[in-house]
Amino acid sequence: NMTTAELEERVREIKQKLGSKLFIPGHHYQKDEVIQFADATGDSLRLAQLSEENQEAEHIVFCGVHFMAETADILTTDRQKVYLPDMRAGCSMADMADIYQTVRAWEKLTELFGETILPLTYVNSTAAIKSFVGKYGGATVTSSNADKMVQWAFKQKQRILFLPDQHLGRNTAYNLGIELDEMAVWNPIKDELEFEGPIERVKVILWKGHCSVHENFTVANIEEVRQTYPEMKIIVHPECTREVVALSDLAGSTNYIIEAINQAEKGSSWAIGTEMNLVKRIIQQHPDKHIISLNPHMCPCLTMNRIDLLHLTWCLETIEQGIDHNLIKVEKNIAEYAKLALNRMLIQS
Ligand code: 13P
Ligand code: SF4
Repeated sequence: NMTTAELEERVREIKQKLGSKLFIPGHHYQKDEVIQFADATGDSLRLAQLSEENQEAEHIVFCGVHFMAETADILTTDRQKVYLPDMRAGCSMADMADIYQTVRAWEKLTELFGETILPLTYVNSTAAIKSFVGKYGGATVTSSNADKMVQWAFKQKQRILFLPDQHLGRNTAYNLGIELDEMAVWNPIKDELEFEGPIERVKVILWKGHCSVHENFTVANIEEVRQTYPEMKIIVHPECTREVVALSDLAGSTNYIIEAINQAEKGSSWAIGTEMNLVKRIIQQHPDKHIISLNPHMCPCLTMNRIDLLHLTWCLETIEQGIDHNLIKVEKNIAEYAKLALNRMLIQS
């Protein structure tokens, strides 16, 4: 029954007591009540790099979602412990690809295409999938290096399998000059390839997954903004659909969006298509610009929002008491290959 002020005071106390033994990374989509206590904020690439660099903290309390905490565990030393303040903070996109579906897909795809495919996975995926990808020579990607990683993959094989976000995969491949009719979609529910035409044409196999937050930005939202504010620039995350990205002025990762607005002229006006907590924060930080959410209903990520001040305080209190609740620990044999996939990305980023 503690008040907000009391909870905040507890967090401050524990942070002070644990000093550099404690590290709290916070993803840009986290709530303000949590992000105010983050030692570092960033997009998923930045937070992965920071986890790798930080060799000092014994306790890493990850304010983000499950796959990010797994990544942090894989990249840190055995001595360091990673916690997720609420174990229910998953990611609906990462849940759209499990390892059994992936193994089945790989079997069928290699029957169809032989040894011509390299697997890539968005970091928004389970450690088991990262591990699978690492074992078959592939790498992870994030929204801020997907272009570079897809180009890297094509230097090695004729085709790529891109898990689990079809939109990031399609938008990235399209920007690199691959035609939409050279992209097939793997349907993991039906275990079948969706493609029209001769399959030799296929260059990219997209996994049929999506982000339930970014799919809420629609062509209708864009038309509405264009009509109401003809001067307004539209900037969206590449997890939005191809149609939405095509009709927007700019598209890029979370960091790209933040930087674009930082560098925008005073008085300019923007509609942003990404997660609500970030859009709200950008609006607050730029009173000199007119900024709105591309979807007027705002789009929260419900699982990111599971990490709140109460869970953060509780998690820190358990650490203070020496109890390892909510520990994220990736099995060693999975972590080994997952790390390979992550490192293939990190050395190029
Ligand atoms: P980035 O942090 O790579 O932009 O990813 C966005 C996202 O949806 C994280 O879950
Ligand atoms: Fe997953 Fe989308 Fe939420 Fe990111 S914003 S954690 S991709 S559901």
